[in-house]
Amino acid sequence: MTTMANNSEKKRVLVSGGAGYIGSHVTVELIEAGYDVVVADNMSNCDMTCFEGVKKITGRDDIPFVKIDCCDADSVNKLFSDYRIDAVIHFAAFKAVGESVAEPIKYYRNNLDSFLNILEASKTHGGCNVLFSSSATVYGEAEKLPVTEESPRLPATSPYGNTKQICEDILRDVVSATASLSGSEGPVKGIALRYFNPIGAHPSALIGELPRGVPNNLVPFITQTAIGKRECLSIFGNDYPTEDGTCLRDYIDIVDLAKAHVAAVSRMLDGKMKKDYEIFNIGTGRPVSVYELVTKFEKVNGLKLNYKFAPRRPGDVVAIWADTALANEELGWKAERSVEDTLASAWAWEKHLAEK
Ligand code: WQD
Repeated sequence: MTTMANNSEKKRVLVSGGAGYIGSHVTVELIEAGYDVVVADNMSNCDMTCFEGVKKITGRDDIPFVKIDCCDADSVNKLFSDYRIDAVIHFAAFKAVGESVAEPIKYYRNNLDSFLNILEASKTHGGCNVLFSSSATVYGEAEKLPVTEESPRLPATSPYGNTKQICEDILRDVVSATASLSGSEGPVKGIALRYFNPIGAHPSALIGELPRGVPNNLVPFITQTAIGKRECLSIFGNDYPTEDGTCLRDYIDIVDLAKAHVAAVSRMLDGKMKKDYEIFNIGTGRPVSVYELVTKFEKVNGLKLNYKFAPRRPGDVVAIWADTALANEELGWKAERSVEDTLASAWAWEKHLAEK
């Protein structure tokens, strides 16, 4: 599904954290949907591999790239002064759950300050549409599954998850406080997309997940084990109250996730929002267990993975997956790629990295 920019004058989207895993895939889809994009990143958690891949995929080597730290208010303001920004997609944040437990000040400082600067610049430059990268982690260990956008947000189980909840509330409050502004300061409209578990890579294998150091997340650890960079995958817990004893997650293909961002930006820029602040679950609606994902990875890629069962990882929820009806209906978006194709793309990307 491609959502074309709906008028002759190209709208421009600022993608903060745009050189990262999700940001680079979203940049590709935005450009292919006819939007202009400005990529801003401080390169603290990535290198230029994915941004170079974006240029190859889109055939565009004129994509503006601005190296800034969104925690620096003056830099963010200058960015908004230098470019007419119609919408911002804010990815720039630290995202390692375990690290956030060890270093809460670093996480609250970075994730909150960067977003506050984006919001303040959006307001003081005539208003803007802000799309926030939120997470299913805000639901915690949900009592009722699948979760809808109305499901309660339970107390976060990590500072990382708490920054997502706090930023959703900040966005909601700024939208409400700016609704009647006009002139040099303008209204901020907001959408929060609550992702489930993003996995996979672009079909070109030119962009993908590039974790620094030992991966926290499951799929990059799987592919690095398969390529020989890691000795053995530990499956954290097989004594959970699930069919095969391992945790259940809703693994959403990265390209499907990126297309959801285009649909959300189009909704904002085409004036289709029904409220000034909206929230959408972005998942597949299909729960998959860790063990299922491992065996599917082996089958679809024709290999044997070295793994063992290990103790549970503190902070993990047993199960979470999305009710996606609202995004399907309101965004006209639905996850399309099969988990098998996604796992094949993850492996193709890992092999591409090994060839570099
Ligand atoms: C998935 C499952 C692990 C690694 C977090 C954030 C979410 C999003 C994605 C940032 C769990 C198991 C993992 C391993 C394993 N944000 N696992 N062995 O924790 O569901 O979600 O990351 O990107 O906001 O909350 O993702 O991939 O870490 O874990 O068995 O080596 O895989 O126990 O059950 P998670 P994950």
